[in-house]
Amino acid sequence: MPYNFDKIIDRKQTNCVKHDAVSRFFGAENLLPLWVADMDFETPDFIQNAMQKRLDHPVNGYTYFSDEFYTSFINWMEKRHQFAVEKSWLEVTPGVLTGLSLAIMAFTKPGEKIIIQPPVYHPFLQLVESSDRVVLENDLLFEDGGYKMDFDGLEASIDSQTKMIIISNPHNPVGRVWTKEELTHLVEICEKHQIIILADEIHSDIIFKPNTYTPIASISEYAKHNSLSFIAPSKTFNIAGLSTSFVIIPNEDKHKVFSAITSRFHVSGASVFGSVACEAAYTHGEEWLEQLLVYLKSNIEIVKSYFSKHLPAVRVIEPEGTYLLWLDFSRLKLADEKLHEILIEDAKVALNKGISFGANGENFMRLNVGSPQSIIVEGLERIVAAFKRQEDF
Ligand SMILES: Cc1ncc(COP(=O)(O)O)c(C=O)c1O
Repeated sequence: MPYNFDKIIDRKQTNCVKHDAVSRFFGAENLLPLWVADMDFETPDFIQNAMQKRLDHPVNGYTYFSDEFYTSFINWMEKRHQFAVEKSWLEVTPGVLTGLSLAIMAFTKPGEKIIIQPPVYHPFLQLVESSDRVVLENDLLFEDGGYKMDFDGLEASIDSQTKMIIISNPHNPVGRVWTKEELTHLVEICEKHQIIILADEIHSDIIFKPNTYTPIASISEYAKHNSLSFIAPSKTFNIAGLSTSFVIIPNEDKHKVFSAITSRFHVSGASVFGSVACEAAYTHGEEWLEQLLVYLKSNIEIVKSYFSKHLPAVRVIEPEGTYLLWLDFSRLKLADEKLHEILIEDAKVALNKGISFGANGENFMRLNVGSPQSIIVEGLERIVAAFKRQEDF
């Protein structure tokens, strides 16, 4: 069945962060929201129907995760990613960030160092700092219009206080899907220095061919026993508001440590609709996802060709995965403040500021292409017209 990703849904006045909280985050009204990692497509029918069926039952008391819930995820990982996950490896948290935060507390001590690789999803830095751990920034290298990990920098920065690394695979915001070779190299360095790896793999279903996602735990025995992977249906099916995510912890001892902290904070309870939606998504979601990937890819092509035709100074970093496009505005030679001013006050679009992902994100912006094509085109027209007006001065 063909799904209609062109349909415009009015999301205003639903307490929706992407649309209703724009003025709070950007200090301006009526911006076209192309920011936070949340898509504007309607929730697929098989998820809505499953929740509707559950809603028909009049009681919403405490619930638990059924065997079918776990099996749906295990089957999905096997079928889509050829990765055999065992039920005994799994924990469930209300979100990936909750899981990351708990893992930081469980496996490191205050004052110890944790590596992140900017430009990267900004809450990584906040999670580390707010837990009184020390952030070690090993910037990604930007070469020939693409990003790679700085392995030499990584080795050089590690000292006896460095205990953990947090990676984003695929990498938000630069769109890299790390190759098996890159991850293998990373894991070798981590093994040499006995570093625990937290792999945020929340975007791992949004991968554009021929790229393939490699789960960190599949890389080697060290990776299997020294990593925690964080995966959810929230980005794939756009159900972040249903707060249900998995943590994969194959090592039994580490799993016990993690379980202890989830019990301490009582965060492993199931949500009635989160569990129903998650199971439906992983059970029936393949066809929808395949269609979504085609649609997102065509949105990406639209952005690339629009900029190359109308504002070629803006370089679009080709994403291998995620629906987040990383745009390089540096060739316009504008101060970052000015760039934001033009986009917000003149173009009236809400994009994430590159600088919020790290100092090396200066002069970049993150554009979310998870919207109907007409919205993306409107955003592009607004942006290009605003920069053209600047040139006219
Ligand atoms: C890389 C990454 N990790 C985590 C999250 C947030 O996950 P959650 O809402 O499950 O905490 C996001 C959301 O944008 C993300 O892009």
